[in-house]
Amino acid sequence: MIAYPDKLDLAQTPTPFYPLERLSAQLKELDGARIWIKRDDLTGAATSGNKIRKLEFLLAEALANGCDTVITSGGVQSNHCRAVALLGAQLGLKVHLLLRTDSEPQAVGNLLLDQLAGATISYYSVKEFKRLDSLFKHWTEHYQQQGSKAYSIPTGGSNGTGIWGYVSAAEELAADFARHNMKPQAIVHASGSGGTQAGLMLGCLLHGIDTAVKAYAVCDNSAYFADKINADLRDWQSRYPSEIDISELQAETCDDYIGPGYGQADPEVFEFIKQLAAMEGILLDPVYTGKAFFGLIEDIKKGKYANAANRDIVFVHTGGLFGLFAQQQHLGY
Ligand SMILES: Cc1ncc(COP(=O)(O)O)c(C=O)c1O
Repeated sequence: MIAYPDKLDLAQTPTPFYPLERLSAQLKELDGARIWIKRDDLTGAATSGNKIRKLEFLLAEALANGCDTVITSGGVQSNHCRAVALLGAQLGLKVHLLLRTDSEPQAVGNLLLDQLAGATISYYSVKEFKRLDSLFKHWTEHYQQQGSKAYSIPTGGSNGTGIWGYVSAAEELAADFARHNMKPQAIVHASGSGGTQAGLMLGCLLHGIDTAVKAYAVCDNSAYFADKINADLRDWQSRYPSEIDISELQAETCDDYIGPGYGQADPEVFEFIKQLAAMEGILLDPVYTGKAFFGLIEDIKKGKYANAANRDIVFVHTGGLFGLFAQQQHLGY
């Protein structure tokens, strides 16, 4: 039995889990095996995606610490910041977002929802964002002087507390696999700040799931993710001491499909987004899930998933829909 810390009940879980029959049948390289999808894009409506799973634990900690304000950070179209803005409003917490952008912010997609949720927003250039620690410190002191108590959540909600969200999601996956009597070769997902990856890796270890966790990076290289995941796992172990040996956890991150950079996708990714929407009714985004799912399909075609005894593959759809609306000009309609 795993002793989870306190969590709030915010996400619509368990999320659906089923095979993508038409896509799988099209991929002759799968040889009859199937791609399954874990619909974490359905964890809520406006609060949908992977972040809410982490925030169930992070915001529980904020409330337990007596905080009335939450400060967090991310790109101007951050899904994480949008989820914090909306959940903060739901819980009656003040939310202050530190958003990174070098251009004039447009009130579309996630940023539109941040504004609707009434979050306070400070914009910083990419250069200013390099001193993010001092920005958090500055605003924490600012709220302290006002008699408020602020809780800081790092970019993407990825730290030793946030990763519990995907430890718990792994427990859900274990039940999904048992229900379908299956043992997939890989659990695949998009990685940005590393918390989903760290949580799934740790969750598979804790819940006895003998399946590889394979992440597709949307920014930064595999060495960065190895370090970041290691740091998050160490943070987890220092906050929640246990006998678990985290040294056996090795991150597997593919950095071949980042394309032009964070938030920018190649035309092939937009093309794939259109194909999957029409074929399976699944909506991907160009920042995270589109790149990762596209990378997975390319790697299947290259034979990179051909040698396992168990052939089924699970794609965790981590959400991001509102990021699609922020880039609709690239869809060519
Ligand atoms: C839609 C979506 N998918 C995947 C990720 C990556 O998750 P993580 O930051 O935990 O690596 C994020 C956030 O960064 C996201 O918003």
